[in-house]
Amino acid sequence: MEEKKVIRAAIIGSGQIARTSHIPAYRSMENVEIVAVSDANEAAAQRLAEDFDIPAYYQDSTRMLREVKPDVVSICVPNKFHYPLTIEALNAGCHVFCEKPPAMNPKEALEMWQLAERNGLLLTYDFHFRHGRNTAIAKEKIDKGDLGTVYYTKASWVRRRGIPGWGCFTNREMQGGGPLIDIGAHMLDLACYLLDYPEIAYVCAGSFDKIGKTGRKGIMGEWNPDKYSVEDSLFGFISFTDGRVMQLETAFALNIKEKDKRNVELCGEKSGLSLFPLESYQGEEMSNTSYPFIEEMELHTKALYNFIKAVRGEEKLLATAEQGYYVQRLIDALYRSAESGEPVMLEE
Ligand SMILES: NC(=O)c1ccc[n+]([C@@H]2O[C@H](COP(=O)([O-])OP(=O)(O)OC[C@H]3O[C@@H](n4cnc5c(N)ncnc54)[C@H](O)[C@@H]3O)[C@@H](O)[C@H]2O)c1
Repeated sequence: MEEKKVIRAAIIGSGQIARTSHIPAYRSMENVEIVAVSDANEAAAQRLAEDFDIPAYYQDSTRMLREVKPDVVSICVPNKFHYPLTIEALNAGCHVFCEKPPAMNPKEALEMWQLAERNGLLLTYDFHFRHGRNTAIAKEKIDKGDLGTVYYTKASWVRRRGIPGWGCFTNREMQGGGPLIDIGAHMLDLACYLLDYPEIAYVCAGSFDKIGKTGRKGIMGEWNPDKYSVEDSLFGFISFTDGRVMQLETAFALNIKEKDKRNVELCGEKSGLSLFPLESYQGEEMSNTSYPFIEEMELHTKALYNFIKAVRGEEKLLATAEQGYYVQRLIDALYRSAESGEPVMLEE
């Protein structure tokens, strides 16, 4: 059998997600070599390179791209830098796997998508829940028409006290926002994928920062309330041009019963379905079908497998840059509505 070409991978950003997801995933693939890592904080890059026996580390990612000439690049930095570093990697001729969210705003996400297209390169985002078997089964059922028209969807990821205590997730300037752009984005992405990206008419939203600025400790560590500059919850309503609607709730901190709960619930004229866990509902007696299964691979790993297989031409990308742009437009509109207190109309 013909040996597959070795794909040379480099990573920009040597923090938590690079260490726990990207490196183990690349390492578990045959014929993928991690050739270098970089980080604005050189010590972080050095530590990561030493811990995983990676041959080169850099502080300057431009230099790394020039000297190492990787085939693929993972972008694992705060949201503010997704755009410039993705553009740089695409201009260096690399396929890019960028962490989610795509960018800080739709203009950036659009340029990233357009440049990838122009350069004939792949660009995907780590919306890893897309790769779950629950999502695949749900998508098949919806596309087959088992639910009928899905006219109401609820996307939700809320935590009682789950403000990340590391990185810059509470810093608006670095991340572009709080739970909406961080965790709500995942559920919005899933919901829109399952609905096949309906055209958006308008959105309304309200956001709050009542807890992040007063509390300091939760299930994801301690944060500094004096430097808390993002929303801690946001609630939105999305109306599509065909009349269907979606509700969104997302929170790092909210006084609710559960510590951490997420779901996408889809209600159709024939039946309803929820993703976490995957269940379907139907009829007056509420017959309930659950789908027990074991995920055979961690989802970030599945996302990176899909990326590498797409680079080899063996699969299509599941999360495309065009879809990333759609989700970014929605996030932006929800933030604009929350800020202005007015509905935001979306025009094509
Ligand atoms: N897909 C997911 O579910 C998921 C989960 C966690 C994090 N993330 C995303 O991953 C990204 C990184 O998060 P993290 O948890 O690893 O954060 P982190 O703070 O642990 O790591 C980020 C690293 O980037 C480095 N960095 C900052 N600016 C840089 C620049 N301009 N150039 C090079 N390096 C730079 C920092 O020094 C740090 O080491 C964020 O965009 C976050 O939203 C996604």
